[in-house]
Amino acid sequence: MPTLCYGLDYMRQTSKPGSSRTLLVDGVTLRLAQPIDLTQEWIGEREILRQLLACWLVIDEHDLPLSPRITGFPGIGKTTLAMAGARERKQDLYIFQCTADTRPEDLLITPVLAESGTIAYHASPLVSAVLTGGVCVLDEGNRMNEKSWASLAPLLDHRRCVESIVAGILVKAHHDFRCCVTMNEDASTYEVPDYILSRLQPTLHLGFPRRDDELAILRYHIPFAPADMLTLTVDFLQEAHQLNLEYSVRDGIHLLQYALKRLAQDPAHPLSKDEAWREALIKVLSEEALDLEGLAHRRKRALGDQPLPRGLGDFFFEGDDPLHPER
Ligand SMILES: Nc1ncnc2c1ncn2[C@@H]1O[C@H](COP(=O)(O)OP(=O)(O)O)[C@@H](O)[C@H]1O
Ligand SMILES: [Mg+2]
Repeated sequence: MPTLCYGLDYMRQTSKPGSSRTLLVDGVTLRLAQPIDLTQEWIGEREILRQLLACWLVIDEHDLPLSPRITGFPGIGKTTLAMAGARERKQDLYIFQCTADTRPEDLLITPVLAESGTIAYHASPLVSAVLTGGVCVLDEGNRMNEKSWASLAPLLDHRRCVESIVAGILVKAHHDFRCCVTMNEDASTYEVPDYILSRLQPTLHLGFPRRDDELAILRYHIPFAPADMLTLTVDFLQEAHQLNLEYSVRDGIHLLQYALKRLAQDPAHPLSKDEAWREALIKVLSEEALDLEGLAHRRKRALGDQPLPRGLGDFFFEGDDPLHPER
């Protein structure tokens, strides 16, 4: 099978904003995906962002970038962190949303019947990043099945290439191509096979934000929220975090948005702030969020006094840690 040699400038045929971009690879014309707009800022804790950026550094001609996995509860900021990493590096960002029924060709190149009756080849966001030297976030990677992961093994190690059976080409990664995978810590996901996990290193675990950071994040997203509503929301989230309940910044944003909309809705008969906030809590998170301690207690009992679901990558940091038996 012929391999792709680089010379992007002459291979790129169209790249006007808004127009579809195509690239000729080994005689096959690929239609590229559009990069995503990078307006999202990362607020608060910089250390985790620095760790991500370190993974993507190349510090010697024999060095290769790493493709880390970013783990943490849903809504905690994993995708945002990855987006912020691409923004810091001033690279185009592509996001591939992984799902249980993602097929290898969805991840790579999909043939589409064109109007003329010919076949057009559409490069996925991942292959578009691979070819043009962008950043690709494989979002919620542990929703994806093993067959699709298997096709990525050579891309994620020193070979840095990927083979599309459908288009009959081997695509070599541009030297600026960077990748990371986000993984949710919830039960509704696949086990990612070990040989893939060993290529997705290191694990960057995103914990709950500190109080002042969480307040700054809420204020960034809802700058028009009154201070007392922000405080109510942050106090609630921080209490939930202390009890290791999975309510997240995203929940806080939705809660606050709904409460403020209810307050603004009918100036003639306004709800009180407390009423609006309480209603939002119930509508966004359900009645059980009214009593966090009771909820934490019930969860703990249901799990047989086990700690709440632990993070991927946390496995070696508990009492039975074979590397540190003294812990
Ligand atoms: N550090 C942060 N800076 C800015 N926004 C944040 C931060 N953490 C979380 N958010 C916001 O919280 C919401 C959920 O974040 P997201 O990255 O989608 O979470 P996840 O990918 O972990 O499910 C988004 O609206 C995001 O912008
Ligand atoms: Mg996400």
